[in-house]
Amino acid sequence: MSFKEKVIYQIYPKSFLDTNQDGVGDLAGIKQKLPYLKRLGIDMIWLSPIYVSPQRDNGYDVADYTAINPLFGTMDDFDELITAAKELGMEIMLDMVFNHVSTEHEWFQKALAGEQKYQDYFILRNEPTDWVSKFGGNAWAPFGDSGKYYLHLFDVTQADLNWRNPAVREELFKVLRFWLAKGVKGFRFDVINLIGKDEILADCAENDGKPAYTDRPINHEFIQMMNKATYGADPEVVTVGEMSFTTVENCILYTRPDREELDMTFNFHHLKVDYEDGKKWTQMPFDFAKLKELFHTWGTQMSAEQGWNALFWNNHDQPRALNRFVDVDNYRVAGAKMLASAIHLNRGTPYIYMGEEIGMLDPDFESMEQYVDVESLNAYQALLAEGKTEQEAFEIVKTKSRDNSRIPIQWDSGEFSGFSKVTPWLSLGKSAKEINVAKELQEGSIFSYYQKLIRLRKEYPIIAQGSYEAFLAEDPQIYGYIRRLEEQSLLVLNNFYPQETTIELPEEFLTGEILINNYPNEKLIEKLTLKPYQTVAIYR
Ligand code: NOJ
Repeated sequence: MSFKEKVIYQIYPKSFLDTNQDGVGDLAGIKQKLPYLKRLGIDMIWLSPIYVSPQRDNGYDVADYTAINPLFGTMDDFDELITAAKELGMEIMLDMVFNHVSTEHEWFQKALAGEQKYQDYFILRNEPTDWVSKFGGNAWAPFGDSGKYYLHLFDVTQADLNWRNPAVREELFKVLRFWLAKGVKGFRFDVINLIGKDEILADCAENDGKPAYTDRPINHEFIQMMNKATYGADPEVVTVGEMSFTTVENCILYTRPDREELDMTFNFHHLKVDYEDGKKWTQMPFDFAKLKELFHTWGTQMSAEQGWNALFWNNHDQPRALNRFVDVDNYRVAGAKMLASAIHLNRGTPYIYMGEEIGMLDPDFESMEQYVDVESLNAYQALLAEGKTEQEAFEIVKTKSRDNSRIPIQWDSGEFSGFSKVTPWLSLGKSAKEINVAKELQEGSIFSYYQKLIRLRKEYPIIAQGSYEAFLAEDPQIYGYIRRLEEQSLLVLNNFYPQETTIELPEEFLTGEILINNYPNEKLIEKLTLKPYQTVAIYR
């Protein structure tokens, strides 16, 4: 099966299922729930980092790329997980954090101790540039007492690697070969468009310095080298690059098959439509016109140039899309299905973030004490420093924090929601009693809607292979698109609002068949009324 036909499910291991009762999820917990994932119908499971790490950024600060963090279990647990998943027809995708390592990694420690070989593994300079770290503050920190500075685009404990050094590249390629030999069939590459830094680093006042270190031409060369040296030899391996602050032009280059870089890319533009003036730590209702324009631009351009999108609403860095785009007090279920259709019938490979398939919500925390994420804690301090009151700063963190999606999965309505028998590492969501897997499987319909979407992808080649064109681009409520493959067409209409709206159905679809709908099936008539958050897909 090509990566275009697959559906990928993301697990944040810390919060999936705790089987050894330490309050943290583990590999044995993932293995235990494989039948649940099989029932959903997904093909591949992406695990957020499971390696040895001080967990300052929940594993995105790797201290040993080829050892399992005892927090999650052992290498035997991992081997068992891969085997058990394979038996059920599912594969494992690992998260490769290759832009930086934890400062606890032995490479950094040896560098600090004065070994020249390892100092060349990092980006050291006599003078820092003006770049701002993505987690706040200047992106450079003193390198011991050497008088030099090392670059950290993220936390001060995440030191950027020097990809210009062939020895660094070879170390990282060895890591990929290690996991490939274990039977891993997919890689998600963390902020992979930041690995290629220019030889001479320059100040850049624009956008916190991002243009100076993002999507540099050499970045493509490094990914091509990685492809050739490792996964490129195995057509079954699926690769997805996380692209920070990128452009559609670059993502076409990263994913066009003849370039031999990656299968697909994640971009985040559609998840910044509720950022005031482009700033994350603000509050603003989402800008629907902008959301549509982004979907249409990426959809059409990637389609025209043979690029490939990774499609998603949620991940471990985003508050739940349901809370951002839907009136969840009144339309949680209809809204969850509409969002799912908008992505799963689109052109690209869909990703489901754990809990999305039951319509989980943000946790509704009550105080700052409940947050643990380093970025959120830094942002809170920065908001106070800007003059916001504690209450104002808290409200902003509450809507934007990454902890919103990192809370434990709500398996049932019991104490600790079936995630653990002890207090979890991060507070549970307030909705656990009403929204949980047990209840959803018994009487809900979001899970079965996802099952159907996944099934349709396998049954109708137009979903994986069809081209993309915008439909009703100017409509103030509807996000619509048409997929085409030879003689077949698929029209997908999504009402993003709690008000009804009527559209004119093009004649060619009047005789079509409704593939999926989140309201009881309706007659296809010229003046078609869509109910609140209605989605309908018409095939002919
Ligand atoms: C993106 C990851 O998804 C995020 O969780 C992490 O903090 C940064 N990259 C740094 O690795």
